[in-house]
Formats: sequence, C-alpha cells, structure tokens
Amino acid sequence: MWVSENNWISIFIVYIHVPTVVWTLSQCITESDCKCSTDEGTIDLSQLALPASSAPRFKDVAVKGVEGLSVSWNPCNKWTKPSSPSSQYKDCENIAACGTILTNNFDIGQQETAECYFNTTVERCVLAFTGKVYLDTEQSPKTFITLECDSSEEGQLESIGPSEKVDDSAHFPFKLHSKYACPRKSSLSAGSVLIIVFGSLLLAYIVAGILFNKFHRGATGKEVIPNINFWMDFPLLVKDGVAFSYQFCKKTCGGKRSSYESI
Ligand SMILES: *[C@@H]1O[C@H](CO)[C@@H](O)[C@H](O)[C@H]1NC(C)=O
Repeated sequence: MWVSENNWISIFIVYIHVPTVVWTLSQCITESDCKCSTDEGTIDLSQLALPASSAPRFKDVAVKGVEGLSVSWNPCNKWTKPSSPSSQYKDCENIAACGTILTNNFDIGQQETAECYFNTTVERCVLAFTGKVYLDTEQSPKTFITLECDSSEEGQLESIGPSEKVDDSAHFPFKLHSKYACPRKSSLSAGSVLIIVFGSLLLAYIVAGILFNKFHRGATGKEVIPNINFWMDFPLLVKDGVAFSYQFCKKTCGGKRSSYESI
C-alpha cells in the first residue's frame, strides 16, 4: 500500500487538530454589549464579567508607554470607580472602561457603546468602547480590546502599546487573552444533527409522496401515503428477517447443540 498504517494515523491526527488550532476568522459582528458573532461561532464574555458593582474584572492595568496611566475594565456589566472629593475628574460611574491618572478618573468607554469589528490586519475580533467627549480633545477616547482565543487562560488583559491619538481622539489598545474569547458554535452533537437530518428527510419523503400520489396519480384515502403497500408489509418483512436470521444463526453459530439436533 502507498500509505503505511502510521501515515494514516498522522493524517487522522492532523485532520482532527487543524480546525481547533488554526481557526481563521473573517468576520465579527456586534451581537450585544457582551457578545460578538463570528463565522466560527459566538464569542461570549459573560462568564468573564463580574456582576455590576464597584469592582471591575480587570483592575489597574498599566498602560504601556504612558507613565502613571492605568485602565480598569469590566466586560458586559457596568461598574463604578469611587472618586475622591478632591479629584478634578470623577467620570467613572456606570461604565465599562475607566482610565486613571493620579486621583482623576476618565470615562474611556461606556458599556452601551460596545461594538465588535473585524481587524483584517491581525484577523481578530476587536471589542471597542467609546467614552465621554472631553473638551480639550472634542473627541471621545476609545478603548480597543483585541479578543485573543487562549484556551489555557481564564482571562488576562494586556496593554499593547501606548495610547495613540487618531483624529484627535485617544485610542487605548489592549489584548484580552482568554478561553472566553474563543468563538463557540451553538453545540449540537453529531447525534442530534443526524436525528434532525433524518427527520427532515422523512418529512420531505412523506410530504412529497402524498402530493405525488394525490395530484399525479389521483390517489384518495389511505392510498395517498407513499409506498403504502411496502409500509403495510413492513412489519411482516421485519418478522421474516428476524426469523431468517434466527434460523441462519441456529445452523451456523449454534455449535454442538445444532449439530446434535440435526442428527
Ligand atoms: C488592527 O490591529 C493592528 C495591530 O494591533 C493595529 O495596528 C491596527 O491599527 C488595527 N486596525 C484597525 C482598523 O483597528
């Protein structure tokens, strides 16, 4: 044979592993504040999120390249960061992402503004939030979170590079490494798919058969049922089949006892 047994095993293993390791995305659409739908299934961050409260899931992540700036983020649910009375900016009430410099809290992303989009350069889903308009920039700051599927991580938020100014608005790029960032298909087992397919075929067979018999053959009454004679004989055929197998087995697999009987 041109392929040895070991090669078959490798081919089998590669075939099983390729779809789980090298999934490539080609779209990312907002489904809710908390979910992005992709061509590989839905990314749902709800299991990562802390409930609405004063605690974010990711607290005080230092922003790379910006001295003294840290960002806190909670996916899905609003949270509030308490501000001290002396703070000039106290803007982190019921938000998604909060930027903090010294005692000042800046709104850099509200939960309602969550938007999923596809970054074609990195071929990943990005979850973006827009914050409040600040007078000195006249643009809203934005938080971008690239969703990186990592089945070995519960959740880790990484600052990727300093904030950039794009069209006068500050952009804060992050990457979330998490198993909840993996797209998941609604889980239908192979068995249920088989049942659905078989059920649909059966229904199509019955409906098409009835229509054909009624309108093409002009059948009436129970004669409209497709292959009625076959189905009426069906229990008999099954009975014959079972009886035949039984007789056959009695002769061939019965061993000593059957040969004793045949004497
Ligand atoms: C896509 O991601 C790359 C790398 O993080 C970034 O440089 C680029 O600006 C992103 N593009 C868009 C449209 O967000």
